[in-house]
Amino acid sequence: MSYDSETLLVRKYTMKKRVLVCLTGASGAIYGVRLLRALKSNGHEVHLIVSKWGEETLKYETGIDVDILSKEADYVYDDYDLTSGPASGTFPIDAMVVIPCSMKTLAGIAHGYADNLIARAADCSLKERRKLILVPRESPLNLIQIKNMATVTEAGAIVIPASPAFWVKPKSIEELVDSIVERVMFHLDIIRDSAPQWSGET
Ligand SMILES: Cc1cc2nc3c(=O)[nH]c(=O)nc-3n(C[C@H](O)[C@H](O)[C@H](O)COP(=O)(O)O)c2cc1C
Repeated sequence: MSYDSETLLVRKYTMKKRVLVCLTGASGAIYGVRLLRALKSNGHEVHLIVSKWGEETLKYETGIDVDILSKEADYVYDDYDLTSGPASGTFPIDAMVVIPCSMKTLAGIAHGYADNLIARAADCSLKERRKLILVPRESPLNLIQIKNMATVTEAGAIVIPASPAFWVKPKSIEELVDSIVERVMFHLDIIRDSAPQWSGET
């Protein structure tokens, strides 16, 4: 049986993916919440880790308790539990996204300082050459943070700053947030029909 290139492309973009979604203590918990929901509503398997400060910002910014969000994921891990699956490179996930990604977690990943599950799982993603997407949020940036973004990029991660586009003419915060979520899904090889595309017309 042979596939034409269009069939292969459709297959690539519709294949069910197993994605490790991590929320850390940077502002912008809503990005993580909406990515989790978008992945689930598109039929993908979500593995979730929320750091201690991720829990705090999630509650403070969105009013959502981590236990409630956890119910929406397929599998949930404690950020302190380095015995759980994502701590090993053999754990079979397709991709990992840290969204939002704090400067502290970015620094840990950039320097291989894996003393919690999120940093260790990211370490594993890099060593196994799996897709790792970081969505950092900080402003302004100091040189250490800029260098850390360069370091993770050199190591193979994709940095998608939480810096939404306005050309999509968002009518709500959710639509604004989704312009970043769509970029993340695009890089996960998942495209939603609703994803905005620049037509070239002004
Ligand atoms: C309300 C609030 C907002 C924060 N916003 C940011 C932020 O936008 N970016 C950032 O790097 N850290 C931010 N922090 C600080 C991080 O939470 C802190 O560095 C923490 O140690 C990150 O740990 P984690 O990466 O393990 O979640 C914020 C903290 C709080 C309480």
